[in-house]
Amino acid sequence: MTTAPFTVAIDGPAAAGKGTVARAVAARFGLAHLDTGLLYRAIGAQMLTGADPIEAAQTLTPDALERDDLRTADVAQAASKVAVIPEVRAALLDFQRAFARRAGGAVLDGRDIGTVICPQAEAKLFVTASAEVRAARRHAELLGRGADADLATVLEDVRARDARDADRATAPMRAADTAHVLDTSEMTVDAAVAAAIAVVAAARSALGLGVER
Ligand code: C5P
Repeated sequence: MTTAPFTVAIDGPAAAGKGTVARAVAARFGLAHLDTGLLYRAIGAQMLTGADPIEAAQTLTPDALERDDLRTADVAQAASKVAVIPEVRAALLDFQRAFARRAGGAVLDGRDIGTVICPQAEAKLFVTASAEVRAARRHAELLGRGADADLATVLEDVRARDARDADRATAPMRAADTAHVLDTSEMTVDAAVAAAIAVVAAARSALGLGVER
């Protein structure tokens, strides 16, 4: 097990596969994993029920991340709205940075991990795919969960969220200069996971860290 900080930053747009890749990398190398989108989703969910987003961010507790309604389309849109507020982002900074540098190493996935939260991350990935492919994946996932979803609406939502995330002034979504870009549009899940693991294994080897299970 790693004792020195070892951070894997995984950024990219919605439904590109970064969550799947992040969980697989964490499991493979025994690293802790934080899905930072959940932080913004928890605040978005509270805003939808009338809370002030800045206050919600400043008083966020771990149990707020356990709510079972954080994966809905409405909460996703609300998350990207609260995510443009600089005070909301500032309130979440220390928690994410401490998680990133924890002993034993960590994988964080989000939009600004390699650029703002942990620019010193030892391995950086930007996982992306075309908007059409991502909408089709999200649509299938929503139907699989029994939700009533229409592909054209999901595509519109994906594009609206991409635009809000990429065009905001504070911590816009973009690939860090040193990130390995992984376009999963035409990749199977297994191939995307294998490619990400190869990137992280190379970074660990370069630092003299173990790559074995
Ligand atoms: O990754 P996920 O789709 O759960 O993220 C929900 C929203 O939270 C994103 O659309 C984005 O606006 C915001 N977010 C962010 N920075 C992060 C993670 C998520 O702005 N690091």
